[in-house]
Amino acid sequence: MDVLVTRSLPGKALELLSNKHKVDLWEEEVPIPRDELLKRIKGKSALLCLLTDLIDEKVMDAANALKIISNYAVGYNNIDIEAAKKRGIVVTNTPDVLTDATADLTWALILSAARRIAEADVFTRSKKWKEWAPKLLLGADVYGQTLGIIGAGRIGAAVAARSKGFKMKVVYSSEFESKVMEEDLGAQRMTLEELLTVSDFVSLHVPLTKQTFHMIGDKELSLMKKSAFLINTSRGPVIDENALVDALEKGRIAGAGLDVYENEPMIPEKLFKLKNAIILPHIGSATHATRAKMADLAVKNILAVLAGKVPPNQVA
Ligand code: DGY
Repeated sequence: MDVLVTRSLPGKALELLSNKHKVDLWEEEVPIPRDELLKRIKGKSALLCLLTDLIDEKVMDAANALKIISNYAVGYNNIDIEAAKKRGIVVTNTPDVLTDATADLTWALILSAARRIAEADVFTRSKKWKEWAPKLLLGADVYGQTLGIIGAGRIGAAVAARSKGFKMKVVYSSEFESKVMEEDLGAQRMTLEELLTVSDFVSLHVPLTKQTFHMIGDKELSLMKKSAFLINTSRGPVIDENALVDALEKGRIAGAGLDVYENEPMIPEKLFKLKNAIILPHIGSATHATRAKMADLAVKNILAVLAGKVPPNQVA
């Protein structure tokens, strides 16, 4: 059967897919243009796409044989799930395999923001360092502080688990009570408002939905401690970016560690200038091993559906 793949992927998964099905691969290292996607989807039985590809009704209508949309990501807010359901198209994602890499990167952001790592690196490279000094690049403690996790899924729990070595108090806010968070990790559940008030580090681990869009705005930022840091490795639109920039500019919170943005790859000009923001280009899952495992999973999902089986990671 014919499969459209919108980008070349790390690892050997695409070879395996090509051995079994006819693959039409968008080979350029830029997102497939919309008109190209609409043209090439026609007649394809499967689509392996990226989080940068908007898969809406128009794409689904242009496809006349599509059985599965396999997203190369755990988040699938780029896909119109209701439209897929209506058309009987299966949607899959790539959970689990990227949990640890994303939790690691979240910690890289926590430590970098608190200890001003990016700023210190630029300072040293620009040969400004003259001698050791008691007040040089002072940052915030991580050890023994309170970590507030919003969203108690796999990644939130993995971030909480890593805080053990730092002897942190962990609090979490989630729609559902999490046994893992409470019994295994000793975290205390509280409302979002309470969490924002007590946490020294607030880390976001929710999917992007209508409910989580702008869940952190002006009001929420104003509840945070002036000394606290906001970390986001989930999805950009969960934070009202203008409100965050304003809070950072005015020093209403101490800093932010960001891997994701409201309108990727656009980043507000003001954020580039703020020393209290660490800004990364959406690399939460970007390790060689993780990205290869994501490709394996995305292909496994397609092979299963095209063989008439239930795929391992069906979300719709
Ligand atoms: C995801 O999978 O949703 C990440 O944002 C990219 O790995």
